[in-house]
Amino acid sequence: MEKQQERRREAEPIIFERDTEETWLRLQEDREKRAALSHVAKDKDVPWKQNSQAYRKRYVQSGPKYRYTMGPIGSMTVSKQMLPPMGKGGKHRHYNEALLYVIEGEGFETHDGIKYPFETGDLVCVPTYCIHQHFNASSNWVSVFYCTPADFFDLLGIQSTEQIEMHPNYQVPETAQIIRGTQGQVIGYKEASGLEIRFGLDENKQMLMDSKKATQFQGESKNNYDFYMRTLSDQTKWRQNAIRIIKSKERPWEETRMGRIKYLSHPNISTGLLLFDSFLQEIPPGGASGKHRHVSEEVHYILEGRGYDIHDGKQWDWDTNDVVFIPVNTVHQHFNADPKKPARFISVQSRLYHYCGHGGFEHMEDAPK
Ligand SMILES: [Fe+2]
Ligand SMILES: [Fe+2]
Repeated sequence: MEKQQERRREAEPIIFERDTEETWLRLQEDREKRAALSHVAKDKDVPWKQNSQAYRKRYVQSGPKYRYTMGPIGSMTVSKQMLPPMGKGGKHRHYNEALLYVIEGEGFETHDGIKYPFETGDLVCVPTYCIHQHFNASSNWVSVFYCTPADFFDLLGIQSTEQIEMHPNYQVPETAQIIRGTQGQVIGYKEASGLEIRFGLDENKQMLMDSKKATQFQGESKNNYDFYMRTLSDQTKWRQNAIRIIKSKERPWEETRMGRIKYLSHPNISTGLLLFDSFLQEIPPGGASGKHRHVSEEVHYILEGRGYDIHDGKQWDWDTNDVVFIPVNTVHQHFNADPKKPARFISVQSRLYHYCGHGGFEHMEDAPK
């Protein structure tokens, strides 16, 4: 029997696979694309655009077509949105969570029909699978910095957007054919390509999620299979009760080796976000942060001040309203170039690296006292 198997193996032609080389080539191309991109998106260079959800500036877009074309990071989409006085965004739902930092203004969220007010400095947590809409409740504009892990959900096979209500200013393409319901109301549109957009909830998904609520696990798990039934039940309860608003004025400043930092979302803080860490950092006039690197990307929105970053020895200048990208594994340090005024920014990092066993920081230099 053994001899027969050996003979057969000898007779079979060997087929060589070049998948390792293909991966190397793709990763090399990704490195080259990242290296060609600026680490700072200057506010004046990024145009405002209107899509079905928001009037926004897109700094990093989701989807394979856009990967490493706008900023040298790939773990999150990065945008800024503005809501006009008494205005609102599109109403929609997606599986992925979303982080929103309120740069300026007062308004409220509706999440699954419940109202959550927000103000300047708040972190708004949109948990997974929640019907949400952003509202401006004042006579001034509201501006919000926001990030989503959309591409990651795409890879997991659960990327989707259920469009319930379009942004009031959005216009469908001129070539699109409007689809009307029995009462003549607009219920969607068909693009020239044949793509059909229907407004409203996805009934199948809705039934799937409703059945999760109906079959909540009772009692203790008795075996390893029960563990997963209980997990579904626990996660459904968590989603319904997740904390939506973190008020930065109620969070403490910490004097850390990296500098003066106020964490808003972190594994030690209970929030409606599972996939993002975020913190505010203040650098004193003429001062600097500590120096470190980590196996995770980081993005800053500059709230106040002017200065520069050093990334692997290269200087990147930034100003108020600019966005700074720190690619994975990059040694970085932040400097305030203004001798009289502090600099402030909000930092966002994907926590997915942490869940993959790469959540640590390699600290190199303390922030000057
Ligand atoms: Fe959203
Ligand atoms: Fe960092």
